[in-house]
Amino acid sequence: MSENAESSNTISAAQTTVKAESQKGDYPDFMLKEIHEQPRVLRDTFAGRFDAQSGKLNMNEIPLSTEEINAVDRIYIIACGTSYHAGIVGKDMIEQAARIPVEVQIASEFCYRQPVFTPNTIAIAISQSGETGDTMDAIALAKAADTPIITITNVADSSMTKESIATLQVLADQEVSIAATKSYTGQLAHLALLALYLGQERGTISAEDISSAYEDLTQIPQQVESILSESSIAAIEAAAATCYKAHDVIFIGRGVAAATCMEASLKLKETSYVHGEGYAANEFRHGPIAMIDAEAATPVVALAMESKTRERMLTIIKEVKGYGGNVVALATEGDTQAANLADSVIYLPRIREMYLPFTAIVALQVFARRIALLLGRDIDHPRGLVKAVVD
Ligand code: M6R
Repeated sequence: MSENAESSNTISAAQTTVKAESQKGDYPDFMLKEIHEQPRVLRDTFAGRFDAQSGKLNMNEIPLSTEEINAVDRIYIIACGTSYHAGIVGKDMIEQAARIPVEVQIASEFCYRQPVFTPNTIAIAISQSGETGDTMDAIALAKAADTPIITITNVADSSMTKESIATLQVLADQEVSIAATKSYTGQLAHLALLALYLGQERGTISAEDISSAYEDLTQIPQQVESILSESSIAAIEAAAATCYKAHDVIFIGRGVAAATCMEASLKLKETSYVHGEGYAANEFRHGPIAMIDAEAATPVVALAMESKTRERMLTIIKEVKGYGGNVVALATEGDTQAANLADSVIYLPRIREMYLPFTAIVALQVFARRIALLLGRDIDHPRGLVKAVVD
């Protein structure tokens, strides 16, 4: 490269940085800005999807007929990292509403397996960037088997959209921080809608249940806003302050909350370099519970919100306390029992069990960011990471 070319590149990189920095507004970092943008992303995604008059949810992006949707007998969700974690939640959403078996596959592993594509399999690729190399390879494998691809992505004209029969456009706008936040909840929003839509077309969920689930979805933006209120953030940050010196932070939950634990531990690891591990709470008792070190008061973040497994979670919290763990409980507003058992509590608004990941992860994004901040990390640019892994 000539000296001139190099210097003009340097200038343009510097200009880009200045431009990006100016877009931070009053926020100290993009991660916090993007966390706060989530209510807007969710509101925009849910808006106008349900016609109260006809009682129908619309998803005009999907070009499959009702007959074709009825014939679907398997769905592969393929994705990496945070998008993979969204896929795990999506599996439960789709299986519950549409009664189609769903397999969620880490895209980079999918390519080295021998997936069984039936003639009526469809694949859903999830990707913030729409360019991730591993997911592109998995798409190529599915396409070679004539499997139609639906992509959920934040980037409209990305490589993945070009390979797909349909794109569900995540409405997050550009995400600058390496740690995915608003793109993740934006992906969850599309998965929730897609699950209801598939169920509607297959007749596996009643019109009444779709309407009530949709109503609950439209409440989520304000519920997320309440988690991002000053007092709520103060409680989350106070809990984080009791954990930031730890070597390991363990996240436990059940059902869709277990998938949230995986994403929360990824957020912690990538932003703070503290080891985090997400477990299905009961599975945690089959070995990993030995990691709780009373001397170190190992932090255990327990997702114990109102759900069919709350009681069981409270029992596990007692057990963890008995071994000397420092328990941070995520509990539904007003749950004094959970608060009394734990060392700290983070309250979340009451929400339909299937939609717990939307609110719980927002609290845990704030939690991870706080720990990273207390450790003096570069919040938006963690070491060794790039926004899209394209090779
Ligand atoms: O762009 P993609 O969603 O396909 O990227 C996949 C992962 O690299 C990505 O989700 C990564 O895990 C997150 N940036 C972590 O916050």
